[in-house]
Amino acid sequence: PEAGRPEDIAMIAAWKAPRGEFARYPNLGLIVSLGHGVDHLFGDPGLPADVPVARLVDDSMKRQMPAWVIAGVLRHHGRFAAYERLQRAARWEPVVPRDPTETHVGILGLGALGTEVARHLVALGFPVSGWSRTRKEVDGVESFAGDDALERFLGRCDVIVSLLPHTPATEDILNAKTFGWMKRGAYLVNAGRGTLVVEDDLLAALDTGQLSGAFLDVTRTEPLPADSLLWRRPEVVITPHVAAETFAHSCAPQVAENYRRLMDGRPLVNLVDREREY
Ligand code: NDP
Ligand code: OXD
Repeated sequence: PEAGRPEDIAMIAAWKAPRGEFARYPNLGLIVSLGHGVDHLFGDPGLPADVPVARLVDDSMKRQMPAWVIAGVLRHHGRFAAYERLQRAARWEPVVPRDPTETHVGILGLGALGTEVARHLVALGFPVSGWSRTRKEVDGVESFAGDDALERFLGRCDVIVSLLPHTPATEDILNAKTFGWMKRGAYLVNAGRGTLVVEDDLLAALDTGQLSGAFLDVTRTEPLPADSLLWRRPEVVITPHVAAETFAHSCAPQVAENYRRLMDGRPLVNLVDREREY
């Protein structure tokens, strides 16, 4: 009700707005996602077809995400799950140590966030590969592109970090078949979206040891229901969609900049491709 007259609204900045809300505003010139992801917008059948959609590309999120992902990579690389078990048994017992060069990290999605994560992992000495739709040039990172390269990419990685957006092309991409393409005992780190993962297939891959564990910030249903088996798996770490938060002080200038550009009729920034939905 505080929005006033719908016809006066030129731009909406939103995160998970109620379904159908955008259809109420006849004079919208821009919809801005208050996050890097835009799946919450494209999931609304009432999203006006002719209004441009922009998103955040945010410096704070580009700092936060590598920190969260590195926690997941190091949990596997540093064998922290084993040391937590040993600590509970009061046992001082080194598990075979390994050099970072022995843990190959693959990043699904070498976009704004995936590229930052890759740079940090390279600096730590990990061999890093990335998979994206188009080929990338990132120092120290081996680039794989397109569906045909996915099996080869997954087959070389000890840790798979997912930073893909949810789109019609990526939904369910982590499933029994693609888990089967991974090395035995591979570790999954997912901060992209829960809908990338078929959760029953993930549980089955953990049961057989095809995957040794998972570090998840996102799940198919959020909040993750209390009866989800994922909560009860000791080899799974779950955080409640906090890997990279939107902080107003960081993102406000770019939202304001897009508003000024809209008002002045200048080109907008951080627009997403409406066809590809990211
Ligand atoms: P970008 O749009 O910058 O990057 C997306 C990457 O995914 C690109 O490299 C793109 O390839 C690749 N990609 C998309 N579709 C395909 C496909 N079908 N096949 C192969 N590669 C594909 O996104 P960001 O890096 O900014 O963010 C990624 C996602 O992270 C967000 O969409 C959101 O879901 C999630 N996120 C999660 C947060 C959290 O707290 N958990 C916080 C912020 C974001 P190409 O470059 O070739 O087009
Ligand atoms: C985002 C998120 O997309 O926080 O920005 O998930």
